[in-house]
Amino acid sequence: MNKNLNTTKYYLTTPIYYVNDKPHIGHAYTTIVADVLARFYREKIGDDKVFFLTGTDEHGTKIVESAKANNLSPQKFCDQNSEEFKQAWKNLNINYNYFIRTTDKDHKNAVKKIFQKLYDNGHLEKKEYEGLYCVGCEKFLTEKELVDGKCQFHDREPENIKEENWFFKLEPFLSQLEKMIKADEICILPKSRKNETLGLIKQGVSDFSVSRQKEKLSWGVELPFDKDQVSYVWIDALSNYITAIGYPDDLEKFNQWWPADLHLMAQDILKFHAFYWPAVLLALDLPLPKKEFIHGFFTIDGQKMSKSLGNVIDPNELTKKYGVDAARYLLLSQFSFGSESDVQVERFDERYNADLANGLGNLVARVSNMIEKNDLANVLDSDRTEDKEYNQKMSACKFDEALKIIWQKIANANLKIAQQKPWAIKDKEELRKILSDLAQTVLDIAFLLKPFMPETAEKIIKQFSAEKIKKSESLFPRI
Ligand code: MSP
Repeated sequence: MNKNLNTTKYYLTTPIYYVNDKPHIGHAYTTIVADVLARFYREKIGDDKVFFLTGTDEHGTKIVESAKANNLSPQKFCDQNSEEFKQAWKNLNINYNYFIRTTDKDHKNAVKKIFQKLYDNGHLEKKEYEGLYCVGCEKFLTEKELVDGKCQFHDREPENIKEENWFFKLEPFLSQLEKMIKADEICILPKSRKNETLGLIKQGVSDFSVSRQKEKLSWGVELPFDKDQVSYVWIDALSNYITAIGYPDDLEKFNQWWPADLHLMAQDILKFHAFYWPAVLLALDLPLPKKEFIHGFFTIDGQKMSKSLGNVIDPNELTKKYGVDAARYLLLSQFSFGSESDVQVERFDERYNADLANGLGNLVARVSNMIEKNDLANVLDSDRTEDKEYNQKMSACKFDEALKIIWQKIANANLKIAQQKPWAIKDKEELRKILSDLAQTVLDIAFLLKPFMPETAEKIIKQFSAEKIKKSESLFPRI
């Protein structure tokens, strides 16, 4: 057990993304964050103690619609698009432990068993339902949620749907959930989101529909106790967090990882994670996830990212232009994690040049250059130093603040060089002392950078752990 981090294992998840979209920087943002945390915890508690799950959500009406529009069968369409997510994550150096697809055979079988258990324990009820359904959201909307009769997120009129569906009986769990959320037994962060959740529960939450008639929607998991119905996306989707680690067949593996230490997401799916999912878990007699972190939904240059506006940014474009590590840095350093914010694309170049080319790149180049020139032997301590403040920021998901700690060290070191002017120092011993201090700082910085910029950090560590430190090619050529 790492005492500072207070955990022996770490299981973290991203949402599973709908395959009807191509991966964009919204998905990339959450996934990079998860990767940074996974790398951080692997260093602290051991590689095999961390399980990082991501994947794709592949059932439901909107997938069928998109597949049709692309002249493909739903399966073929899902195969192609989930591959695009995998490729994008590869390009961003995302090192997940498992990539789940809701069309995986194992997942579908597990979902059937989950439904059967919910049914056997009396948590499901068949009801006639009439409501306004938005395919874009894959959920029923209330009149109140509409703007000019349309869904505000998808700018389309919801369909009026009337059919008999299975419902999950949410009501019996609400007071228990309220207590558990209040007591942080399931810790919802930031605090504003916890309050929002409690507010929603107070307003009253109704049972939710978990199935659709098969004749209307066949692209789903058939319910074992009612062959005319297929599972409606959310139970299928949310269950991925437990089916991926073996539930219900491999309980040994499951118990090794569950409960999740962290579910990451943006606020668009808060409701599903803050009470639908915990209620389903209670109904299955399973412990609740320890923490959910809800980050902000960002806009691009002041506007919602959308296909129709043509402002969707492909993460592959970023990695092509800036390189993997710079793309990761640019996305994560944009704004404070958790708050809503605007991504200003035209500032990426500026940020790259200032922070990476001039800041980090320049420091590494100057220090290694001066050491090589003066032919100094390496006397560095290449053990990792612990930075308590940084560790705290990381485990509290304050990534932008953790990055600020690192960049403060970079700025201080660059300033020190400007003040001490090592190139003008004649005394060999004094020069050696100054340069080895600087080199030690660079090495410390590289260790802190590891979760964020794994390749760059490795390069620097290798360079500064060699017997003779040599200058290298520029890490971040100016743009
Ligand atoms: N399939 C569901 C989730 C099921 S999880 C059991 C879904 N998929 S999604 O493709 O729409 O992904 C939503 C998630 O993508 C958000 O919660 C967030 O993690 C990420 N983001 C998508 N767009 C985003 C922004 N513009 N800003 C920040 N995050 C964004 O919902």
